Amino acid sequence: MRHLMSPLDLSVEELEKLLNLANDIEHNPDKYAHVCDGKRIATLFYEPSTRTRLSFEAAMMNLGGKVLGFSSAASSSAAKGESVADTIRMASCYADIAAMRHPKEGAPLVASMASRIPVINAGDGGHQHPTQTLTDLLTIRSLKGRLDHLVIGLCGDLKFGRTVHSLIEALSRYEGVEFILISPEELRVPDYILEELRAKGIKYKEVVRLEEALPDLDLLYMTRVQKERFFNEEDYVRMKDFYILDKAKMELAGPEMLVLHPLPRVNEISVEVDNDPRAVYFQQVQYGVYVRMALIVTLLELEV
Ligand code: NCD
Repeated sequence: MRHLMSPLDLSVEELEKLLNLANDIEHNPDKYAHVCDGKRIATLFYEPSTRTRLSFEAAMMNLGGKVLGFSSAASSSAAKGESVADTIRMASCYADIAAMRHPKEGAPLVASMASRIPVINAGDGGHQHPTQTLTDLLTIRSLKGRLDHLVIGLCGDLKFGRTVHSLIEALSRYEGVEFILISPEELRVPDYILEELRAKGIKYKEVVRLEEALPDLDLLYMTRVQKERFFNEEDYVRMKDFYILDKAKMELAGPEMLVLHPLPRVNEISVEVDNDPRAVYFQQVQYGVYVRMALIVTLLELEV
């Protein structure tokens, strides 16, 4: 039985297969409409979510399956003190696969060790968010045609942004990928990730000004300042509007540069950018459903 805790749990070849399956699902949805008949997914969300939870649920429904779960710790037995290990043992009796989001780093991993069904990490604290990364990779590969030889700017809260950590690790495995890490000093990428980049000999640069990076990018990955991970409100308020991508800044970028964002957006992308053909963050949401469908089929080892 396989779980998905980090994007690196999939080899490059397995990832390629998964993205190909997602492409096939996109183009032939009818073929997949019943592959999960009689199957259920449990969405165990101890932290707020719109896209990720609904995306898993839509994915399972598109495959003919059913969904059950909870969307906040307060509405689950966690409020009574139940451990994630006990919760997943229980969910193993009700469902065939589970997606878990938790504010504590490593909680889905602990759950997976007690589970009788595959567990997907749907975001654990400031650590990892592998299915957002699968979404990002499918978006990039579909719209750019490749995952190698790309200059990627990641901008915003690179310290607490789990989507950033997962995406850097996943893209690090492709040739000719270069990272421009754009953040205020206080929100730099954690050292353990920079060490991995150095160990692999991957080119990266850390900059503070977005304007400086824009002309060189193939992709700009914008992120929200992760309010819920700050220790005090003052620091958050000081950081929250550090970057605002607007029309004027988009003029500094090349005609082919795509703008991605895992969403939710707060202020970091002005709504005036939404109609720019280079802004693909809403398309990204759609790719998220296809790739989660592909992931469910893969982890359940279903014949397609
Ligand atoms: C991200 C997350 O939860 O980490 N959201 C998402 O799943 N699309 C990004 C964020 O909350 O900023």
